[in-house]
Amino acid sequence: MRDASLIPLSHDHHHGLALALRCRKQALGQIRPMGIQGLKERAGELEEFFSRNLKPHFQAEEEILFPFMRSRIPQSEALIEDLLKDHAALREGLARLDGADGLGRLLFELGDLLERHIRREERELFPLFEKHATPGEAERVGKEIEKILAFANPKSKI
Ligand SMILES: [Fe+2]
Ligand SMILES: [Fe+2]
Repeated sequence: MRDASLIPLSHDHHHGLALALRCRKQALGQIRPMGIQGLKERAGELEEFFSRNLKPHFQAEEEILFPFMRSRIPQSEALIEDLLKDHAALREGLARLDGADGLGRLLFELGDLLERHIRREERELFPLFEKHATPGEAERVGKEIEKILAFANPKSKI
């Protein structure tokens, strides 16, 4: 079972996986409306999810979770390097969603990358944290993550 400190991040992951699948299906023409209209709708949905959820989510990982794990769990270092590269690629791809050229391909790639990224965090990073962090450390990290997420979306935290 997921440690309580990581549940808010796992909650975002759950929604992110569903959206990643929709992006790929849209790009493959498996969801209506098809064509450019559907692609634009899905791009808009991805942009909104990014600004509301993924931005603070990445911030919480980059400022709290990753630094803690780097200092306490040295074997997480290479994995975190990869995950940071994914964050950069996702940010860069998101910034290109406005240009309509190659939108289907870009949506597919972003959906694919987002899914692979989330699965690595859930299957590799989080288990390392749960194995090595003490209950006190996990609680402190969890509170700091909450603070960043609540600051970004105050209404969802009431
Ligand atoms: Fe991440
Ligand atoms: Fe994440």
